[in-house]
Amino acid sequence: AKLDMFVDELPDMPKIYGFEMKNGVHVSKSLEIGMFMKKWKFHRDLPPTPVFAYGTSKETATVPGPTIETLHGVPTQVTWQNHLPQKHILPWDPTIPTAQPKQHGVPTVAHLHGGIHEPQSDGNSKSWFTNHFNQTGPTWSTKTYLYNNNQHPGALWYHDHAMGLTRVNLLAGLLGAYIIRDPSLEGPLRLPIDRPLIVFDRSFRADGSIYMNGTGNNPTIHPQWQPEYFGDAILVNGKAWPRMTVTRKKYRFRIINASNARFYRFYFTNGLSFVHVASDSAYLARPVKVNKFLLAPSEIADVIVDFSMVSSDSVILANDAEYPYPTGDPVDEVNGKVMKFVVKGGRKRDTWKVPRKLISYPAPGDTVSVASKTRYIAMYEYTSSTDEPTHLYLNGKSYDEPATEIVKVGSTEVWDVINLTEDNHPLHIHLGLLGALEQRELVNVEEFKACMMKINDAMKCHVEKYARGKIVPVPAHERGWKNVFKMRPGCLTRIVVRFSFIHSNESYPFDSTAEPGYVYHCHILDHEDNVMMRPLKIIS
Ligand code: C2O
Ligand code: CU
Repeated sequence: AKLDMFVDELPDMPKIYGFEMKNGVHVSKSLEIGMFMKKWKFHRDLPPTPVFAYGTSKETATVPGPTIETLHGVPTQVTWQNHLPQKHILPWDPTIPTAQPKQHGVPTVAHLHGGIHEPQSDGNSKSWFTNHFNQTGPTWSTKTYLYNNNQHPGALWYHDHAMGLTRVNLLAGLLGAYIIRDPSLEGPLRLPIDRPLIVFDRSFRADGSIYMNGTGNNPTIHPQWQPEYFGDAILVNGKAWPRMTVTRKKYRFRIINASNARFYRFYFTNGLSFVHVASDSAYLARPVKVNKFLLAPSEIADVIVDFSMVSSDSVILANDAEYPYPTGDPVDEVNGKVMKFVVKGGRKRDTWKVPRKLISYPAPGDTVSVASKTRYIAMYEYTSSTDEPTHLYLNGKSYDEPATEIVKVGSTEVWDVINLTEDNHPLHIHLGLLGALEQRELVNVEEFKACMMKINDAMKCHVEKYARGKIVPVPAHERGWKNVFKMRPGCLTRIVVRFSFIHSNESYPFDSTAEPGYVYHCHILDHEDNVMMRPLKIIS
């Protein structure tokens, strides 16, 4: 049945503070956050949906989970507790590399996306655990995670990362926002209060349950796995096509794309603009104004929107990105709408202006001179005889092959990412921050790809002969430091990756060389699970 749009109010997720005040100073706090199975109302006319939700108790758990508020320089400890049932609520696929406990139970492990912290607290895919830590994965080492919060201020998000189950654990609801604030740097900017807008797509059955295709596109190889999950309904903060009432002033939104595979090209139907102040977790040096922008899975847009002079009494936030992006279907009336802003009161100019200077860090391009290494990362998709995708790999290797990306602690590297597929893949690197330098189209891709598929060696395949097509400029609002960058199909994208703080040359206050190390991967969750993910090892 068709669901009416814009009937539910946009919720604000509950806040949990990762610090407290003692004798006039902010001190560290230990949190316990559980994962619970419960029911969640995604729409006024939809029966309650069984979900997996994060929260401090079953009653208060939400989808998305609570927003964790932290302070720069004040560490937060979180004990993530699995209270989930014996069986998953969604179909999963044992033929892809998957966490499989000996007895029943749902493997989970939380990762703080964009966080700079020790490997033991990074939520490695194999550090999973089931209900009450009854069973644990091979790299599991601790119940309590330490987030130093020593990094630059900005928006992060936390989500599940269990081996082979990330796509279903997030679909079930295991994700939430995490904010690091630094009043000394952000206070002077006087930006409006921020609201996270967590966007994802889901399909529902008439009984309210989440619908996920239980049959794979290539069932003889993978009985369930599909290359991309797309849902019909677009949800913001856990409501399908919600509405938010705004007054005539500027608002700040942290838009997190928590979808498995859907890209959004956001725009307002009345042409209202967005002013980007940060991209992923890091501020931009200067604001960038746009009318439309593309947000891949896991990317975060931090934008100011001015409703003060809107001529009508409502504005619709819409999306026109093809799915899969960029070669898939165009959006329709249903998935092309996101939410509605109801604007109250008569027109009245908001005189507050976005500061011309925000927070500057060394520009990515200026750090290339200290890069100690250049490496090639190639993205491949493999298909069956019927031309259906069977799996995707980075550098032609599965996750279980030994680490090839071995990085010296504190160093800076240049990564040339070669996308030999037809999809755009958002590449995410744990621990490091990345800056996009150049995107260049490849010429004679098929010839180059044939060589790469055979020997997976960009140098021996003479990459220089092919990486000389048209330059596609990096959009202005994506030229700062990011956690994810969209790798265009048929392009070589050059990024600089920094494994030290962006705000200073200080070393990390933890041992990044410890086990089990980190990972880097495509953030289309269905790709990450099968298995577009590789270990990342830091050495001293
Ligand atoms: Cu957002 Cu490895 O994750
Ligand atoms: Cu991908």
